[in-house]
Amino acid sequence: MSAQLIEAIQALRSHVAAARRRGSVIGLVPTMGALHAGHARLIERARAACGTVIVSLFVNPLQFDRPEDLDRYPRTLQTDLELCASLGVDVVFAPSVREMYPEEPACLVQVGRLGDHLCGRFRPGHFSGVATVVLKLFEIAQPDLAFFGEKDAQQLAIVRRLVRDFNIPVGIEGIETVREADGLALSSRNQRLDAAERRLAVSLYQALSEARQRIAEGATDASIVKAAARIPSDPRLRLEYLEIVDPIEIQPVETIAGRVLVAGALWVGSTRLIDNVICDPPAHNRT
Ligand code: PAJ
Repeated sequence: MSAQLIEAIQALRSHVAAARRRGSVIGLVPTMGALHAGHARLIERARAACGTVIVSLFVNPLQFDRPEDLDRYPRTLQTDLELCASLGVDVVFAPSVREMYPEEPACLVQVGRLGDHLCGRFRPGHFSGVATVVLKLFEIAQPDLAFFGEKDAQQLAIVRRLVRDFNIPVGIEGIETVREADGLALSSRNQRLDAAERRLAVSLYQALSEARQRIAEGATDASIVKAAARIPSDPRLRLEYLEIVDPIEIQPVETIAGRVLVAGALWVGSTRLIDNVICDPPAHNRT
């Protein structure tokens, strides 16, 4: 069965209203397309939990801080539709920019301190753009459940707060990161890497794993852990950040005494990759 392609907001609303009348649980998987096995994992979880699965494909201009990144973002509608069909998706919602933003929005979601660190520090306006489009998608699709990847841990933390702060009746499901065999987190941006860059790209996950290992062994000083998590010196690699924060408030941690998020962003040539690992200290280090 093929997934139904819907491009108009009104048509999606009618479809959802009919599904709801049938008593179907509505699941939404928001994406920017160029789907890969990480997205597929989210869709499979949605399929298992919901009677009606909607996947949105929308490259949201509001969340791009660099115009060249928006221009270069991969767009693969046909193969995305085929993957969605093979996973039993009911509806693919793929609106145009005009449909989502018929005029320049006058109101944007402002993200507070959860956006101060990690990617938020380096990508001005990014999380405001994400929170705004996610709020719009929630309003349009009115899902019971929405599925987001832990790969974008700061985004997930912000979406969890968004629904609390605005009393949106949607359950947020966080799904673990899907990786290549060598540990590289799947990302639509991996498509841009050449063979040599692809080999170097795994060094972010290796640095994060090194940090996780140190924390598991009992290291408590975040600055020492960060210093040990080294990226090989190569002219094609530039570490933008590697930070240790608490996973809920996304604030820097100096002394590790509970679960932490170790997150990094690495430029590989002209491609920016992000990744993170959740780390638990040994029991004797927990307060
Ligand atoms: P996109 O980058 O397309 O990601 C869509 C969803 O897939 C996100 O929730 C992301 O965390 C998840 N995802 C990406 N790579 C993954 C991986 N390797 N394993 C598991 N999940 C993965 O994130 C966005 O789009 C946008 O910001 C969006 C939320 C759609 C708003 O525009």
